[in-house]
Amino acid sequence: MDDPKTKIAIVGWGNVGRGVYDSIKTSLDMELVGILSRDPQRVITQLGGDYSRIIKNASVPEDVLYVAYNCKPDVAILCGGSKEDLPIQGPYFANFFNTVDSFDTHERIREYFVKMNSIAKETNHVSIISAGWDPGTFSLERVLAEAIIPISSPKATYGLAEKGGLSQGHSDAVRKIKGVRDARQYTHAKQDAIDLMREGKGFCLSAGDKMWRECYVVLEKDSPEERKRVETEIKTMPHYFDKYETRVNFISQEELNKNHSRMPHDGLVVTAGETGVGNRALIEYKCQWDSNPHATGSILVACARAAKRLKSEGESGAFTMLDFPISYLSSQPHHDLLDRFM
Ligand SMILES: NC(=O)c1ccc[n+]([C@@H]2O[C@H](COP(=O)([O-])OP(=O)(O)OC[C@H]3O[C@@H](n4cnc5c(N)ncnc54)[C@H](OP(=O)(O)O)[C@@H]3O)[C@@H](O)[C@H]2O)c1
Repeated sequence: MDDPKTKIAIVGWGNVGRGVYDSIKTSLDMELVGILSRDPQRVITQLGGDYSRIIKNASVPEDVLYVAYNCKPDVAILCGGSKEDLPIQGPYFANFFNTVDSFDTHERIREYFVKMNSIAKETNHVSIISAGWDPGTFSLERVLAEAIIPISSPKATYGLAEKGGLSQGHSDAVRKIKGVRDARQYTHAKQDAIDLMREGKGFCLSAGDKMWRECYVVLEKDSPEERKRVETEIKTMPHYFDKYETRVNFISQEELNKNHSRMPHDGLVVTAGETGVGNRALIEYKCQWDSNPHATGSILVACARAAKRLKSEGESGAFTMLDFPISYLSSQPHHDLLDRFM
């Protein structure tokens, strides 16, 4: 009989990696069997010696093979950053494992899908890409709502709370700039755009019309010239900031640790239009997370269930959350889902 537990390897020990770790701990059907990091010592220091046997170096091929063949994970959850890690780590680790990742550079998802599909098919693995809440559960909601309200354009916005919502992808992108020691990026929703979305007049709203961005940056060496260079680099960064109104604040590491250690986020998908002729219709899907990485980690763990199931059915190649039955995410048997949710 198949092992009822899904065995997971975590690849990359950052915010999402720790979110996945905590989600595995609280999911009865999940078991952590390995951790791969480019800096295993950092992980051992954080987790304590108990795990040192299964914490291996992601940059050392022998260590990767050790995790693949000795720890035998059903799925490796790739928790690297979307900007620089996943475009390299996704195709590499798909050679060894079934994978789940949260690649969230929306403009590049098609390109990434094609690459992952070809490698996963070649090596007979399943790779669920771009999972999380956006892309991810918000994508599911957009497709569902547009299918029901045909003449509509589902629109999403983020950062409804006063402080805004902390975007990990954008924070990661700012941290990758030379001379930046640490950074946080908050996204803020614009209320007038939400009003237009609810009236069904949001068709032409660009991302920059719906949101603005705010960065808190700690520099390695603070000086007026360095501030100017980093601010320009942020504001002109393609895919991330160049199309938004962006404010950049420079602060100390102490201030960042004190005021920006939590990672809340939220978002709203609004679909407004008509069903039939002249019947107004509105669907809103909203989520609020105290911890963006824990929310993302929980979704990635649910997708690991689906990846294992798809693999057991003989599937291979790349999938997004749109491409398999939603019931595959659940740990509950199908008849139970019918009884409770249908
Ligand atoms: N789809 C969605 O809804 C969604 C939602 C949230 C986030 N995301 C994606 O998730 C990605 C990861 O976010 P994150 O916040 O986890 O990024 P992060 O904390 O910067 O971690 C990214 C990688 O950097 C390395 N790292 C982390 N902390 C480090 C440190 N102190 N020193 C050196 N290296 C360190 C880790 O790799 P090693 O352990 O190998 O060094 C880690 O895997 C984001 O880029 C975003 O695109 C997607």
